[in-house]
Amino acid sequence: MMNETLKTLALAAMEKSYSPYSTKKVGAVIELVDGTTFTGCNVENSSFGGTVCAERVAIWKAVSEIGPTVSVKTVVVATDASPPWVPCGICRQVINEFASAECEIHLVNKTGDVKSFTHKQLLPHGFDRSALME
Ligand code: THU
Repeated sequence: MMNETLKTLALAAMEKSYSPYSTKKVGAVIELVDGTTFTGCNVENSSFGGTVCAERVAIWKAVSEIGPTVSVKTVVVATDASPPWVPCGICRQVINEFASAECEIHLVNKTGDVKSFTHKQLLPHGFDRSALME
């Protein structure tokens, strides 16, 4: 579930954004099933393909600190947009990799809009490890 602490963390992470090319700040926080949180922001690159989204930065920080057992309970993504931005397709795929069964994704902005989904709603029929374990 999203709470004010997670929303505040996602909005604060936006301010760390390195986005000189798009000028679009994105912040994210993930909460793991044990309550641990990790934040991320988008980090752009002059070679545009080197850009990484806020959501993936948060997940890679978590995996690099915790290890492969990372299980994400909640994702909150903050932008200045109204309605707030949804995660891109690559981020949906990466969230799916580490999502707990009931993982929720909440989209927020400073003006108070909130849109909420489950990760399965944002990536129906997602490709996952089950295909590789046959
Ligand atoms: N961006 C994110 O950080 N997350 C998303 O899910 C969508 C896009 C960033 C990437 C880039 O720095 C900027 O937003 C414009 O695409």
